[in-house]
Amino acid sequence: MKFFADTADVAEIRELAETGLLDGVTTNPTLVAKAGRNFLESVREIARVVSGPVSAEVVAADYDEMMREAEVLRRIADNIAIKVPLTTAGLKACKALTSDGTMVNVTLCFSAAQALLAAKAGATFISPFVGRHDDVGFDGMALIADIRLIYDNYDFATQILVASVRHPMHVVEAARIGADVMTAPPKIIHQLIKHPLTDNGVAAFLKDWEGTGQTIV
Ligand code: E4P
Repeated sequence: MKFFADTADVAEIRELAETGLLDGVTTNPTLVAKAGRNFLESVREIARVVSGPVSAEVVAADYDEMMREAEVLRRIADNIAIKVPLTTAGLKACKALTSDGTMVNVTLCFSAAQALLAAKAGATFISPFVGRHDDVGFDGMALIADIRLIYDNYDFATQILVASVRHPMHVVEAARIGADVMTAPPKIIHQLIKHPLTDNGVAAFLKDWEGTGQTIV
């Protein structure tokens, strides 16, 4: 399973990239506003820090303007994935951009029918939002399982990118189902590493080792 960081904060991305565990980055207009920096400059910097896909989202609602924005974004670097909303214009832009060899992440997916259409439009990634789905009383993970089944039925190459991840168990459940990618805020990726028994074990081993008076180097 690939791990993407869901943030536009370059310092956070740099820190995660140094672990060697980061496969890509997703941004959206809200995350860009939160980071408080120039969008194009941030995306350029992120695409240098991470060699994997970096999703940069268009903000236009109509097809022609979406394509103009996508043109600016895709010129930034080869690893930019254009993020388009799951609308008629977004799917049309997805088809045109992927036919031209550009990676596309179709975002704001809330149904299996939408995911099927994104795959038919040649999407590189489909982003079902599990957290927002759970928030309104639906089962986000059931949606991921449905999409996995449908994509496997037809051997669609579109990668399921589990988005709107709110806690570590979303990641574990998505991995059980066989999602290709998950994107999560850096805080959640750090939470995945932590376990109190690991911390206690490390502290106990260190204490006992110090008692031996030895060093390794
Ligand atoms: C990722 O591509 C999405 O934009 C993101 O995961 C949305 O997360 P949120 O529902 O926490 O805003």
